[in-house]
Amino acid sequence: MSESTNIDSLLHEERQFPPSADFVTNAVGKPDLYTRASKDRLGFWADQARELLHWHTPFTQTLDWSGAPVARWFGDGALNVSYNCLDRHVEAGLGDRVALHFEGEPGDQKSITYAELTEAVKKAANVMASRGLRQGDRVIIYMPLIPEAVIAMLAVARLGAIHSVVFGGFSSESLRARIDDAQATMVVTADGGHRRGAVFPLKDAVDHAIADGASSVENVFVVKRGGNDVEWVAGRDLWWHEEMAGVSDEHTAEAFESENPLFILYTSGTTGKPKGILHTSGGYLTQAAFTHKNVFDLHPETDVYWCTADIGWITGHSYVVYGPLANGATQVIYEGTPDTPHPGRWWEIIEKYRVSIFYTAPTAIRTFMKLGREIPQKFDLSSLRLLGSVGEPINPEAWIWYREVIGSGITPIVDTWWQTETGAIMISALPGVTATKPGSAQVPLPGISIDVVDDAGVHVGPEAGGLLVVTEPWPSMLRGIWGDEERFKETYWSTFPNTYFAGDGAHLDADNDVWLLGRVDDVMNVSGHRLSTMEIESALVAHPMSAEAAVVGASDDTTGQAIVAFVILKSRFVGTETDAALEGQLRTWVGEQIGAIAKPRKVFIVAELPKTRSGKIMRRLLRDIAEGREVGDTTTLTDTTVIRTINTSVND
Ligand code: PRX
Repeated sequence: MSESTNIDSLLHEERQFPPSADFVTNAVGKPDLYTRASKDRLGFWADQARELLHWHTPFTQTLDWSGAPVARWFGDGALNVSYNCLDRHVEAGLGDRVALHFEGEPGDQKSITYAELTEAVKKAANVMASRGLRQGDRVIIYMPLIPEAVIAMLAVARLGAIHSVVFGGFSSESLRARIDDAQATMVVTADGGHRRGAVFPLKDAVDHAIADGASSVENVFVVKRGGNDVEWVAGRDLWWHEEMAGVSDEHTAEAFESENPLFILYTSGTTGKPKGILHTSGGYLTQAAFTHKNVFDLHPETDVYWCTADIGWITGHSYVVYGPLANGATQVIYEGTPDTPHPGRWWEIIEKYRVSIFYTAPTAIRTFMKLGREIPQKFDLSSLRLLGSVGEPINPEAWIWYREVIGSGITPIVDTWWQTETGAIMISALPGVTATKPGSAQVPLPGISIDVVDDAGVHVGPEAGGLLVVTEPWPSMLRGIWGDEERFKETYWSTFPNTYFAGDGAHLDADNDVWLLGRVDDVMNVSGHRLSTMEIESALVAHPMSAEAAVVGASDDTTGQAIVAFVILKSRFVGTETDAALEGQLRTWVGEQIGAIAKPRKVFIVAELPKTRSGKIMRRLLRDIAEGREVGDTTTLTDTTVIRTINTSVND
């Protein structure tokens, strides 16, 4: 059987789940969205931008693509992103609606209305402005998932400045690299956050990251959350609550042009250095709001929405902060992990707040599947009416479990494909229109032009596989890589002319539905977190003991991929300690260099690495070993005995 026939039979799915008649009747997204968008794509997006957002200065031009691949959407319009997420809802009489139901890991809770959130953001903007923050300045946000993190993001946006949120699990080294690359002048952090019953320090990491005196950072705001002791640098460090206490709650949102930068979010690429993905205001907010409303079938008066992502990732930006708040939604944010203090914590939260729309990652679903349906079944999940999935392919088995056990066998599931770079959802079912199909992300959203092409850029057409591309500009597309125009063009726009190359393999089935097959480059997807093999290899070779390293993503039933490293020691360290001790040290080291999420699951200490005659590491063979398979074709290896040597050390 050829490889492609094999894939065809794997990616064949008979089961389809049309929406119920009731769902169709009340659905927000109707079939006419597709009709309208296919007739006049730009007109469709202009309608969305006008309908969903408030423009201080209305735009007359929808798209300017003359500077391709840097798009200008709604370029002569002006708006304030924070005003769109806050003030206008209060002005419309919705001030008493809850914006955030915050649930802390230790069990503390706070519900914050739109009026309260608006007031807090106005104060925070005044605080930041009084410390010199101006349009275009960069602010690093390094926080647990607490309301102050959302407030800080919206305050930065309100001033037309640029935030760069760094996930709290990243190490001080990673934080330093991001602060330096963005040349940030402010950091907002917390003393600590709660995680798995303990307090993890954040301020310490900031202190280390900016310790060398050459840092661009002038002020560090510290939110009191963990209650742990912190070091203090007078003049530089400021307690958030003290600053907020003495400041006015009056602040008028100024309008900024549609293309004013909104945020930089660092993500892993194929090289060792993370890239700062740049997003701007009007187009980004339009697509975040449009997709949040239509893909999640949002009825803001009655729904309670919960997306479990941290704000350190793009999902947290678009579907915790900007999409839901622009739409005036009521949502839950939860600080902790799903299993603290008990494995039913998420389901308990759904029951408590009567969550109706729930958005999470397949890794979480697969973990819960392993724990057994008895845990969610102890809770009342009847409020749920729509489920979403994001970050990695969801296998049909997990999809069905999600629908049956969490969704009472009736909720539609939307599997949403997108990326940090795309800014918002690109491929997904519309829940009141599409008959959903387990395992496939399905169809491009209205206004989005997707294709699957072969290496020559030719459409592959049904029942074939190829590369996923976006053929027309879209409003929330990245506008560049911070400080690296060349890398932006090279990474996304050089594979095919005028076409965005996503880096994912994809397959079209007989119905023309898209199945995502994972990355075609050296980017790994571990528990829905994006990491590059090169980044981890660079960290490993920076360790004094190691001479060379290779990293592969091995398939894993729960996390999608798992990081497996192969390391050659410098000769003077060979045999100095047991492999287990060395492995422990190297794993800890990677945790310190990048963050705990990048720690390899397994480090093999090996004598050699398999290389082609031209000196390239043959990752395919390493993946075979990491996944416990027979090693594949080794004919291009310089020295075929290497594999035997590796296999012996691996099996020792
Ligand atoms: O490989 C795809 C995978 O996640 C990558 C993007 O990662 P990141 O920028 O961190 O954004 C994740 C959250 C949007 C993609 O290139 N991916 C994302 N969603 C899906 C997916 N793979 C399959 N199915 C999805 N629904």
